[in-house]
Amino acid sequence: METRRIIIAIDGFSSTGKSTMAKTLARRIGYAYIDTGAMYRAVALFCIENGLIGADGTVDEAGLESRLGDIAITFGVNAATGQSETFLNGRCVEREIRDMRVSGVVSNVAKIAFVRHALVSQQQAMGRGKGIVMDGRDIGTVVFPDAEMKVFVTASAETRARRRYDELVAKGDTGVTYDQVLRNVEERDRIDTTRAESPLRKADDAYVLDNSNMTIDEQNRWLLDLYDKIAGNDR
Ligand code: DC
Repeated sequence: METRRIIIAIDGFSSTGKSTMAKTLARRIGYAYIDTGAMYRAVALFCIENGLIGADGTVDEAGLESRLGDIAITFGVNAATGQSETFLNGRCVEREIRDMRVSGVVSNVAKIAFVRHALVSQQQAMGRGKGIVMDGRDIGTVVFPDAEMKVFVTASAETRARRRYDELVAKGDTGVTYDQVLRNVEERDRIDTTRAESPLRKADDAYVLDNSNMTIDEQNRWLLDLYDKIAGNDR
């Protein structure tokens, strides 16, 4: 059987482990991997660093719109770790974009229409050559509605908060409680699913993966089997 190069869209709720499984799949099948959440996070970090976030977390939209041309987001591979890293105007921000400061405001940035339009066109350009795994919220619905393989990943809010909390603690971020993380997860779900501009929803033709009770190995296997079936690979 012949293998064809396809576009793989992985969408779903925050902290479902989408990025890790998307990265693993991309590495195994030799595809490029794009974390679109990192792009929204980088814009949020730019806003924080440039005084574009009010005390209540609202974004100075006019200010941001006038500075949009000053924001360049790129990806690179760390030679030592082999991991993909996000760069904001040439500076590696991989660590900063994952902290709670950014997590607390990123949904407010991601709901702004002009931000989405700018990032979606960059994402579409990245997928032109196919052979790509892209993860986000609107990849199967807006960015690549014709993607050959679409997956929608979900898990309970408690499972996701526990995973995110353990991750933060492992990184040495001890200034946060499990309840705060759970509230952040629930609040982001609410904003992501109810926003007017391309809200998070499952594409009609997406396969659902609920990984509340699955091991990482089981998820990876599930994804690879689906890819083999769709791309026509008889490995
Ligand atoms: O996947 P993540 O937690 O890194 O995403 C960060 C935020 O960006 C989250 O609030 C959802 C939003 N996002 C989005 O609106 N569209 C995407 N394609 C990716 C992320």
